[in-house]
Amino acid sequence: MADPVCVQKEPYAVDVESGRTYFWCACGLSKRQPFCDASHAGTGIVPVRYKAEQSETVYFCGCKSTGTKPLCDGTHQTL
Ligand code: FES
Ligand code: FES
Repeated sequence: MADPVCVQKEPYAVDVESGRTYFWCACGLSKRQPFCDASHAGTGIVPVRYKAEQSETVYFCGCKSTGTKPLCDGTHQTL
């Protein structure tokens, strides 16, 4: 399995909608960050599903090294 590519060393703030499901790009290759556009094909990496429980602003990891996928846990500050 390939290592994910760091897209940016900061999270993406996204206003998610309650009840909606999102697929976070774990590989870093998507052109539709922070979400999957199927560019992971062949990498062995698959997207991470996120179901919004409420409408709010969520911080999706942009560095792809978070320990709490798909959300930022501050790991980007150590890269
Ligand atoms: Fe990155 Fe799908 S494009 S996980
Ligand atoms: Fe990846 Fe914060 S952007 S941990």
